[in-house]
Amino acid sequence: MTTPTASRGAFASRLGFILAAAGSAIGLGNIWRFPYTAGANGGGAFVLVYVLFVLGIGVPVLLAELAMGRAAQRNPVGAFRILSGSRSWSLVGGLGVVTGFGILAFYSVVAGWTLGYLWKALTGDFERRITADESSRIFSELIGTAGPAIGLTALFLIVTVLVVRGGVQAGIERASKILMPMFFLLLLVLAARSLTLSGADEGVAFLLQADFGKLTPRVILGALGQALFSLSLGMGAMITYGSYLGKSENLAFAGATVAVFDTAIALLSGLIVFPALFSSGLDPAAGPGLVFVVLPTIFDAMPAGSFFAVAFYALLAIAALTSAMSLLEVVVAYFVDEWGWARRWAVWAIGAVTFVLAIPSALSTGASPFLSTMLGDRGGFLDLQNILFGNFALSIGALFTLLFVGWRWSVARALEEMHASGDRLPAPRLWGVLVRYVCPVAVLLVLGFMLVTGEFF
Ligand code: PHE
Repeated sequence: MTTPTASRGAFASRLGFILAAAGSAIGLGNIWRFPYTAGANGGGAFVLVYVLFVLGIGVPVLLAELAMGRAAQRNPVGAFRILSGSRSWSLVGGLGVVTGFGILAFYSVVAGWTLGYLWKALTGDFERRITADESSRIFSELIGTAGPAIGLTALFLIVTVLVVRGGVQAGIERASKILMPMFFLLLLVLAARSLTLSGADEGVAFLLQADFGKLTPRVILGALGQALFSLSLGMGAMITYGSYLGKSENLAFAGATVAVFDTAIALLSGLIVFPALFSSGLDPAAGPGLVFVVLPTIFDAMPAGSFFAVAFYALLAIAALTSAMSLLEVVVAYFVDEWGWARRWAVWAIGAVTFVLAIPSALSTGASPFLSTMLGDRGGFLDLQNILFGNFALSIGALFTLLFVGWRWSVARALEEMHASGDRLPAPRLWGVLVRYVCPVAVLLVLGFMLVTGEFF
C-alpha cells in the first residue's frame, strides 16, 4: 500500500485531519438543513429517528468510508475499483462523483444567501428591531431576485475553487483549525439567548417531544438523508478525506469525534431556531428559508447584536466553505487521479460546470415562478435537487458502500485497516454485524417503503 505522496497531498497532523473532516461534516447541513427539515417533518419524532440513524447507520458508514479511503489512497471511483479488483464496483464511486456535482449545485446557492446576509449584517441591516414579517420580506427579496441570487452563488463558488486549488494541506487544514471551535462557542451564546426568550419552551418541546403519529415513510427517509448528508456520507467525501490520511491515525477516534460534534451542532442549531421561532410566532414548516428568517429576529434582542450577526454569518459562510471544499474535492480528486487532469485546471472547469447546474436552483426561490413551484407545497427546483441528491442519492450510495465493505472488500480487511494505527475499534464484531446486516437492511427498508407508498417528496 502506498503512503500519501506529496503530489496527492496529505494532512499534516491528526488534529488537522479531525478538524478538516469535521469541517466537511459541519456546514449548512447542520445550521440550515437540519432545522428546516425537522420543521417540515413535524419536529421531535424526526429528530429522534435522525439521532438513531446517526448512531446506528452514520457512524458505521463513516468508519467504512474512512477505512476504504485510507486503504486505497484514491478518490471514490479508484477506491471501489482497486479494492474490488473490478470495474463494475467503480460505478458506486461514479454515483458519488455525480452526487458531488448535484449537491454542490444547490449547496452553493444557499451558501450564497449566507454571503448576502453577511453583507447585510456588515452594513448594519440587523441593527434595528426586525419583526418576523419584515424578516421574511428581506429574505424573499434577496433570494427572489435573479441578479443577487446568481451573483452570490458565483461568488461562493469562486472562493471555493480558489481554496481547493491550493491543494489539500494548505487550503483545507489551515482554514478549519481556528474557525470551527469559534463557531461552536458562538452557537452556544446564540442558543443561550434564544432559550431565554419568552415562549422558548414551546420550541424546545417541538424539537424534543416525539409524536410518533408523525412518522411517515417520507419523514423517515428525510431523517436518514439528513443523517448521511450531515456527516458527508454516501458520496465518497470521507473516502477521499480518508485517502489523505496516514497509517498512524486512529480512524475510530476521528470518526467518533466528528459524529459527536456534528450532531451536537445540529441539535444546537435546533435549540437556536425553534425557541426563537415560536417566540415570534413563525411557522416551523416555513421551508428552506427558516434559519435565515428566524435569526435576524434574535440578533436585535441581544446586546452587541450586530457584532454577533456579523460573526454568525461569517462563520456560517466559512463552515459552508469547508463543506463545499470537500464536495468539490471529491470531483476534483476523481478527474486528477483517473483522468490525469492538472488540479489547477480541474478546479476551474468543475467549478464552471457546477455554476451552470446551480442556475436553475438559484432561480427557483422566487425569480422564476415555474421553477419555484415545481413541487407544489413541497417547494421548487432547489428542494427537488436537495431531496434527489441529499436523500435518495446519498442513501443509495451508503447502501452500496455498506454492501461493498460488508460482502466484497470484507469486514476483516476493513478492520485490519482500522487497526493499522495500533488502536483498536471498541466493538469490532458489532461493527461487522451492523455493516453486513443491520444497516443495509435498514436502508433498504426505508427506500422500499418509499417505493411502495409512492410518497417521495
Ligand atoms: N455535511 C455537509 C454539511 O452538513 C454537506 C456535505 C454533504 C458535504 C455531503 C459533503 C458531502 O453541510
